[in-house]
Amino acid sequence: MANFTDDIPEARRETLISSPEPSLAKPASNSTAWILLVIAILGLAGAGIWWFKPWTSVVDIPEPVEPAATGSAVAAEQAIAASETAAPPAPDSASTDSASENSESNDPVSLLGHRQYALADTNSLVAISTNAMVRLKPEAAQKVEAMIADAKAAGAHLDVISGFRSLEDQQYLFFDLKAERGQTTQTRAEVSAPPGYSEHHTGYAIDFIDGTQPATDLEVSFEGTPAFRWLEENAAYYGFELSFPKGNDQNVAYEPWHWRYVGNQESLELFYQD
Ligand code: DAL
Ligand code: ZN
Repeated sequence: MANFTDDIPEARRETLISSPEPSLAKPASNSTAWILLVIAILGLAGAGIWWFKPWTSVVDIPEPVEPAATGSAVAAEQAIAASETAAPPAPDSASTDSASENSESNDPVSLLGHRQYALADTNSLVAISTNAMVRLKPEAAQKVEAMIADAKAAGAHLDVISGFRSLEDQQYLFFDLKAERGQTTQTRAEVSAPPGYSEHHTGYAIDFIDGTQPATDLEVSFEGTPAFRWLEENAAYYGFELSFPKGNDQNVAYEPWHWRYVGNQESLELFYQD
């Protein structure tokens, strides 16, 4: 039974060997003590664990608070985000629609090389003193009056033959004369704008003549007159420019008589807006 004591601590072998029921009496007593000790240790450990509640630092402090706070923050952010993303759609979509409409309406529309123009308010037009049939926007009219006077002082008989035109005027000039002359649409468009597409609708365009050479009225030969030469040298000082010079991008025939006023914001935007 030497092996019997091999598993017993040396200090306790003598007691165990001398005991009639070593495996029952002493060992039982020691086991109980050990068990009680273990229970006590476990109890103390449990009490300590319960006292310090190590899990509460993870569960109670961060989670009950932060999740709640985080939840609130998230909810608030979501509400703000929702309000920010929910509110804008209406204005955004409205402005987008509006913008696209404006974009569409502001997009320059052209036909056969001629830009579309809104008709000037006829109540705002002023007649030119040398030809009451010719009306322009007041500022342009004032400049033309000055040009006529200054050209006359310089020895040129500058005068006017056409200013503002209605849709009916342009209807006649484009369609009626086109039919009368048997012209193709393209050929007519080289010298006349379709109704709604003439610079003359704006009240800022004018056709000049030389009062001493009526044969050159609305003809390229106008460029050989003293009136035209005066215009070439001086029109820019009054805010006027030639609308259809030779080789213009619109492929409109050269019109030395047709000038437009670009001396104020309104007229500039009318003729230069992209
Ligand atoms: N003659 C110019 C192009 C017009 O008709 O407006
Ligand atoms: Zn003209």
